[in-house]
Amino acid sequence: MCGIVGYIGTRSAQDVLMSGLAKLEYRGYDSAGVAIMDGQGIQVRKKAGKLANLSSELEGAPLPGTLGIGHTRWATHGLPNDTNAHPHATEDGRLVIIHNGIIENYLTLKASLVARGHVFKSETDSEVLAHLIEEKYEQTLVGGQVGKLSEAVRLALGEVRGAYGIVVTHVDHREIVAARTVSPLVMGVGQGEMFLASDVPALLPYTRQMVFLHDGDLVVLSDDGFSITDLAGNAVTREIDQIDWDAEAAEKGGYDTYMLKEIFEQPVALTNTLMGRLHDETGEVNLDIGLDPGSFKRISIIACGTAYYAGLVGEYLIEQLARIPVEVDVASEYRYRNPLVSGDTLAIVISQSGETIDTLEALREAKRGGARTLGVINAKGSSMTRELDDTLYIHAGPEIGVASTKAYTSMVGAMLMLALWLARARGTQSEAQARELLHAARALPRLVEEALAPERVERIKQVAEKYAHARDYLFLGRGVNAPTALEGALKLKEISYIHAEGYAAGEMKHGPIALIDAQLPVVVVATESRLLEKTISNVQEVRARAGKVILLLSDGDTENAQHADDVIYVPRSHEMVSPIVNVVALQLLSYFTATALGKDVDKPRNLAKSVTVE
Ligand code: G6P
Repeated sequence: MCGIVGYIGTRSAQDVLMSGLAKLEYRGYDSAGVAIMDGQGIQVRKKAGKLANLSSELEGAPLPGTLGIGHTRWATHGLPNDTNAHPHATEDGRLVIIHNGIIENYLTLKASLVARGHVFKSETDSEVLAHLIEEKYEQTLVGGQVGKLSEAVRLALGEVRGAYGIVVTHVDHREIVAARTVSPLVMGVGQGEMFLASDVPALLPYTRQMVFLHDGDLVVLSDDGFSITDLAGNAVTREIDQIDWDAEAAEKGGYDTYMLKEIFEQPVALTNTLMGRLHDETGEVNLDIGLDPGSFKRISIIACGTAYYAGLVGEYLIEQLARIPVEVDVASEYRYRNPLVSGDTLAIVISQSGETIDTLEALREAKRGGARTLGVINAKGSSMTRELDDTLYIHAGPEIGVASTKAYTSMVGAMLMLALWLARARGTQSEAQARELLHAARALPRLVEEALAPERVERIKQVAEKYAHARDYLFLGRGVNAPTALEGALKLKEISYIHAEGYAAGEMKHGPIALIDAQLPVVVVATESRLLEKTISNVQEVRARAGKVILLLSDGDTENAQHADDVIYVPRSHEMVSPIVNVVALQLLSYFTATALGKDVDKPRNLAKSVTVE
């Protein structure tokens, strides 16, 4: 996350930037900064902490100028202090950039830039871009004339691996150059003025004519308009959309609900979770965790609700891949069961909010027992992060919908990375296995994007509507997808109020089978796995009792489709990463069931997003 604003026109750039940043503060508030061009050059002001700190600084000494760029930061590389705050300028201050995202190969780039004499001020990956673009800019200077900024940006991005939304200004040019890959950017088109932002609400007070930039777009904004090319320099045409959303709709990104928006944000959220942490060429897993992965004999995972199910997937992955005994507890049970903890225990707490009181108290209990503690957390600076030995942030961005979606897939992504990190330290996977898993993990954002293709969404909607009046639902899965079934059932009951049970498929015969009749839809996660045949046997048991079978099958599995009343196909994925791809279909199934029944999915009755009471 992080928020970007850019402005060129006739108004006070400072006013436009500060009002835009206020609308984007939800994207991060570790620090904020602006760079504004006046007659003399580019003035940069930046401050650690919330936007208010920057505001008070600017109140005392406002910056004149009608071209500027601004940023509100959610730190990834480097502490959230004044120096690491954006914008970042070159040594001579003539070129200034803002970057949202992660430059994966920044260490290599930085080393060669330093070797060529560049002096860095910050610890960020982003500053690399300022120096690299400066070098390229010099290459575009012909005979001491003014260089070509857009060309320099394009050449620099050709050397960069990672995710970015960047904006660049240079004293020689009255223009802003911007580009994106993964990190969002939207351009606002005005009369004699142009705007840029990470999200629509920042622009709504000024214009409703907007262009949503695509991955690989590079845009040049001037006072009279804009031009777009791809990263090879070919001209690109993008439509200007007329945005009629009110402020609330804008915050939902044009989706009907936050939940749907967040479901569709999963490819980007997962990219942010995984980005810069898995290196498939070297097999390295770089989680920036100080704890020694070789020093634990057992792991205790503790969480509540959806986060608990992410923990169950984590248990499976860590035991399979790293061969360390893992136990998973619901936090409210853990804290009162007098758990056996010792110095060689790693307690992992998982929490979106970092505030859930049961999880916080369980963390304290684990610490009292001498465990070392690691958090898998979304909310920066939350209570848990202040008490943990180490935190692995999932970087899913703010989640507003009460029913967790993108935080869940990012939590499972984080658990996968932890399993790989532990496996590597303990040497439990061969080079080839480790590489295959890293590859599979890195493919996740693309696979989730594929799982959200319009025709798949439409199919799931049809199935949801067909069974929306069922009184009960059963969800089954096996192995690493047993928790997927539990999460599918939880999602459905949370937002549609249909009674749903999730079960390990093999356990069905020990109880839930008594519920099966022709009225009961049974959703079975039956994607490719070494246990698929066994799962299909359980499907037969359901059919023999006239239950309605909804099968989640891997693309192309027509053979098993014959056992289903309805099939939902999902993209094929490596079994170990499949819970992340498969759960997306179940989120959508719950969503469309709830909306077919007219329920308020963002604020389901009786629930709260963050539960700070016991
Ligand atoms: C509440 C929410 C759930 C969430 C659980 C744990 O019950 O409604 O969606 O999974 O708390 O929250 P946490 O913030 O600790 O992940």
